[in-house]
Amino acid sequence: MSNKHEIFEKNSILLLVAILVVVAIGGLVEIVPLYYLKGTIEKVDGVRPYSPLELMGRNIYVREGCYTCHSQMVRPFRDELERYGHYSLAAESMYDHPFQWGSKRTGPDLARLGGKYSDEWHRAHLKDPRAVVPESVMPGYPFLATTELSTKMIADHLKTNRMVGVPYTDEQIAAAAEDVMVQANPDKGDVDALLARYPKAVARDFDGNPEKVTEMDALIAYLQMLGTLVDFTIYDNKADFR
Ligand code: HEC
Repeated sequence: MSNKHEIFEKNSILLLVAILVVVAIGGLVEIVPLYYLKGTIEKVDGVRPYSPLELMGRNIYVREGCYTCHSQMVRPFRDELERYGHYSLAAESMYDHPFQWGSKRTGPDLARLGGKYSDEWHRAHLKDPRAVVPESVMPGYPFLATTELSTKMIADHLKTNRMVGVPYTDEQIAAAAEDVMVQANPDKGDVDALLARYPKAVARDFDGNPEKVTEMDALIAYLQMLGTLVDFTIYDNKADFR
């Protein structure tokens, strides 16, 4: 044994290759089984893919870089539970491409934002944050209210999400452009069909302007659904960490 070891000690290239082989075995043992598991995320009731309007809002959220100041992940610590609510579950971001967990909190975490404020508050805040929070350092996004939402690409967005594993059906993709309009203008279409496709979707005129569907509609629709899909009242959410 000892003289065989000498081969490696006298030949640094061979030693390097041998180290790589040994490290690779360790890596494979950890990584390969993951490919054979059906899922690494536990299924949770209520979690569904984004409705087309919510997905458009999410795209605007990413486009405007909201994630540079806001995280979307409540950590399982007492101060966070008391401030934001139940800690985030892996399943809650299983349809997020890309995820928005973030690590920068210039502003508050938004993972449990849905329903916290009225649409009117969001409109005023997004147009000019200092109109409602005088000490805010958040920039204003007044152009969202005047920019009409383009639905040209929405079916393609759904298809692209399907490619990376979000289970959108052909029916959902075919109805995508119509679903955008119906969710922002519930008087003008079949809300029941929308709700059948996306349970718990909230359909209303988010931007307060029934004339047109704007980027403000989409962004507020997204903000108002954050953290609302899972019914946490059925869990004893405080017992775990106190
Ligand atoms: C430069 C950092 C910054 C950026 C970029 C930013 N925000 Fe904020 N945001 C803040 C700060 C700071 C606050 C806390 C003060 C306030 O409410 O305005 C805040 C608060 C909020 C709140 C209220 C949260 C609560 O629970 O009270 C919402 C909603 C929000 N931001 C949404 C957005 C959205 C949507 C975008 C992108 C369009 C965005 N923010 C971009 C810094 C930022």
